[in-house]
Amino acid sequence: MSTEREPIGVIGTGYVGLVTAAGFAELGNEVFCIDIDAEKIEGLKRGRIPIWEPGLEDLVESNRDHMHFSTDLSEALEHARLLFVAVGTPPTYSGDADLSAVQAVVEAMPPSDRHALVMKSTVPVGTGDNVKRAFVEQGKAGFRYVSCPEFLKEGSAVKDFLHPDRVVVGDDGDWAGEAVVDLYAPLQAPLVRTDIRSAEMVKLASNAFLATKISFINEIANVCEETGADVVEVARGMGLDDRIGPKFLQAGIGFGGSCFPKDVTALKQLAGNSGYHFQLLNSVIEVNELQKRRVIAKLQKHLGDLVGKEIGLLGLAFKPDTDDMREASSLVLAARLQAAGARVRAYDPVAESEARKLIAGLDYKSSPEEVADGADAVVLVTEWKEFGELDLAALAASMRGNLFVDGRNFLDPDRTRAAGLVYEGVGRPARNGEPIPAGVE
Ligand SMILES: NC(=O)c1ccc[n+]([C@@H]2O[C@H](COP(=O)([O-])OP(=O)(O)OC[C@H]3O[C@@H](n4cnc5c(N)ncnc54)[C@H](O)[C@@H]3O)[C@@H](O)[C@H]2O)c1
Repeated sequence: MSTEREPIGVIGTGYVGLVTAAGFAELGNEVFCIDIDAEKIEGLKRGRIPIWEPGLEDLVESNRDHMHFSTDLSEALEHARLLFVAVGTPPTYSGDADLSAVQAVVEAMPPSDRHALVMKSTVPVGTGDNVKRAFVEQGKAGFRYVSCPEFLKEGSAVKDFLHPDRVVVGDDGDWAGEAVVDLYAPLQAPLVRTDIRSAEMVKLASNAFLATKISFINEIANVCEETGADVVEVARGMGLDDRIGPKFLQAGIGFGGSCFPKDVTALKQLAGNSGYHFQLLNSVIEVNELQKRRVIAKLQKHLGDLVGKEIGLLGLAFKPDTDDMREASSLVLAARLQAAGARVRAYDPVAESEARKLIAGLDYKSSPEEVADGADAVVLVTEWKEFGELDLAALAASMRGNLFVDGRNFLDPDRTRAAGLVYEGVGRPARNGEPIPAGVE
């Protein structure tokens, strides 16, 4: 075992837990990984990675000797002082975060004066205080608590762990906070050491801000469609302003994923529960919902009634380089298309098996070419790199119709049109012989 770096435990081996565990193992820590999912743990023991995340398999493989997998907490408790918590906190029907998995972890802890829980899961402000209160009530007052929210992005999670923009540590100024700071020290990231409530809020506010940026540019895109401006040019011009920055200014068919939708709703709910009406976030959420549905109107504009129409979806995952389907825009889109009577076929390079658990009645194809073959329209839903390299002329030739809806403004409109397709992006001027909006010429 490493003598220099202290052993740690990681409870929950999903996207965050497994990346965190492998990342710390890479830094030289002995890592004890716990999950209640026995099948997942058995697979991990045999080197099977349950999620698709670039670089993760190699990182786990090269650190196998320092990663221990179990459904039982006792080995982690024996060897590690710091127990990172990375269990899910999905939304409840009310929009609040479901903290039942966090509570289960708290309850499973024994009385101890030498352990600390380090919260990586995204939780409402006040959770740390509630956990500390629960520890006291359960006769475990010696257990310490640190908030250390996670900011990694699926698709680049390994890189994000190793090169974080910042590390946020919220604590009570005791040994546990110091130990977490020491653990992250080799990454040489800017450190925000603060109180627990502020650390919890940093995470929620960051995600809410990014979601707001996306809904903002999507609304600008919608106005661009009415006025003949091109949102891609507009975003380029805006993004060069240092105060604005170019990131999260890509208009599209809305944000999804396991974090933004739930964290924005959780913050709105948290504000509401505290007596504050967070008006802006209501709009951010509503704009995002409407944005997914605008694709339907674009299809109807060209195809009329969608009953019996063959619509192909390129990509299903909520973003490229992940198989995560949670809250993916494709879920809403596919359901709306089916409700409108269309027949929906789809291809995703890695998310098909996750998608099958969530969407019924899709015709899954094994390539973009199969999706296009005989389709009335193709919609690019997820900007997988391989979709940028398609032979568009061949695609166009095999289609029954000629409509290409680029839900992520990923393809070059002129190149797509030159291939014989009618191109509909998001917030981009229509140039398929359609009238330019009045008063713009
Ligand atoms: N996925 C992301 O990109 C991301 C980024 C930052 C923060 N977060 C936050 O991190 C947390 C985890 O997210 P995730 O995407 O990794 O979730 P996930 O669903 O992929 O993984 C959660 C894991 O926890 C396990 N688990 C549940 N209850 C448990 C228990 N009592 N004991 C041990 N294991 C248990 C589950 O079996 C599962 O393997 C959430 O709060 C999320 O909001 C996620």
